[in-house]
Amino acid sequence: MRPINHLRPFVVSLFLATVVPCATVATLERARAAEGGKQQPTPLDSDTVELRAAANEVFQAIPALVPTVKDNPVTREKVELGRMLWFEWRLSASGVISCNSCHSLAAGGSDNVETSIGHGWQKRPRNAPTVFNAVFNAAQFWDGRAEDLRSQARGPIQAAVEMASTPEYVIGVLSSIPEYRQRFATAFPGEPDAVTFENVTRALEDFEATLITPAARFDQFLEGNLTVLTIEEKRGLRLFMETGCAGCHNGINLGGQAYFPFGVVERPGSDVLPPEDKGRFAVTKTASDEYVFRAVPLRNVALTAPYFHSGKVWSLEQAVAIMGTAQLGKELTPQETGEIAAFLRTLTGEAPHIELPVLPPSAARTPHPQAVLRVPTSPGGAPEAPGLR
Ligand code: HEC
Ligand code: HEC
Repeated sequence: MRPINHLRPFVVSLFLATVVPCATVATLERARAAEGGKQQPTPLDSDTVELRAAANEVFQAIPALVPTVKDNPVTREKVELGRMLWFEWRLSASGVISCNSCHSLAAGGSDNVETSIGHGWQKRPRNAPTVFNAVFNAAQFWDGRAEDLRSQARGPIQAAVEMASTPEYVIGVLSSIPEYRQRFATAFPGEPDAVTFENVTRALEDFEATLITPAARFDQFLEGNLTVLTIEEKRGLRLFMETGCAGCHNGINLGGQAYFPFGVVERPGSDVLPPEDKGRFAVTKTASDEYVFRAVPLRNVALTAPYFHSGKVWSLEQAVAIMGTAQLGKELTPQETGEIAAFLRTLTGEAPHIELPVLPPSAARTPHPQAVLRVPTSPGGAPEAPGLR
């Protein structure tokens, strides 16, 4: 269970008072104070009250409870099965890649490389977005080509450059293992043969719905803790709303809801926006969708460098400055980019506590993985057929 946030410092100090010697407490207090940003939280004033009211018009806090999922009620059995499948390397043709390889739950739900490395060391063309809070996005992927997490999950398992597997191979693996057969039957009661690819995606979707990160300092501010943000962070929030960032990055995820050209005012250079990836154009085939991408959700953005679909930008300040010129035609000063970046760092929430599952051993008839090393001479080539025995 998550601790109620405002009680936390109190609980922590009680704990420290009983077990940690005083000198250490002082050091910890200082470290904690330094963590909060350059300035210390500020006392209440009318500007802050007004700023919070304005913010509440545009943004919503991440709820503490797991949201409901359309046509797929979240149950304990499905979430537990989904957690196993999330870490299940045997769903990949090579037997070494799982969802967690590119969306590490230990690292902000992403992989922190420019663009992901998948099957046979192939480079995926895009940076991996975080899976944290993805359940709140209106559509999935940089170009929104999957409408929900369930249809999204069909993609990576089969993509040649990700897990390079097939539904048949996945079902071959899972149905060969007695514990999985039993877990699917329990998670999907009433289905005579519950080990299906559809149910794999349902279990993954329900597990992903639990990957939410509430109680970011920004959420505490939205919910009425007016002293939780520093002066710098509040200036950043004000700039974020007043310069127009919030026109595209709004709602619960500060993005993830709508599509915009990358370069509304000025298209970034090919070092940041490689010409070959035309974004949503590939989905809609409409000329006006060239270089159109989803306004990225900015929750936990401090943890998910490098930035943009190309993953070419490592500094959050630089990403903010690029957004200023590209989307708003505005040269932000270093002070302004610093303040906005400081605000964006308040969007880091409490990561869910995920226990590593114990995966059941393979059976005699479980198909064996094939360690195919594909030299990336033909990106996007046909997937190697995984061996089914
Ligand atoms: C080889 C790396 C890799 C693996 C393995 C992988 N992903 Fe991804 N994932 C990506 C990349 C890259 C994208 C963005 C692709 C795009 O937008 O075209 C992505 C996008 C997503 C998104 C969309 C998030 C958003 O905000 O749009 C979700 C959800 C997701 N993956 C879940 C999964 C699940 C579930 C699995 C396992 C079945 C998985 N991924 C396996 C690299 C990977
Ligand atoms: C017109 C809509 C729009 C406006 C205005 C806008 N953005 Fe964006 N933002 C986007 C889109 C679209 C992307 C995705 C670009 C891509 O394809 O990589 C993005 C990406 C980002 C990223 C990269 C995040 C990541 O995880 O890769 C950051 C940070 C960001 N925006 C912050 C801002 C800030 C700060 C402002 C205001 C100065 C702003 N944005 C204004 C639409 C917008």
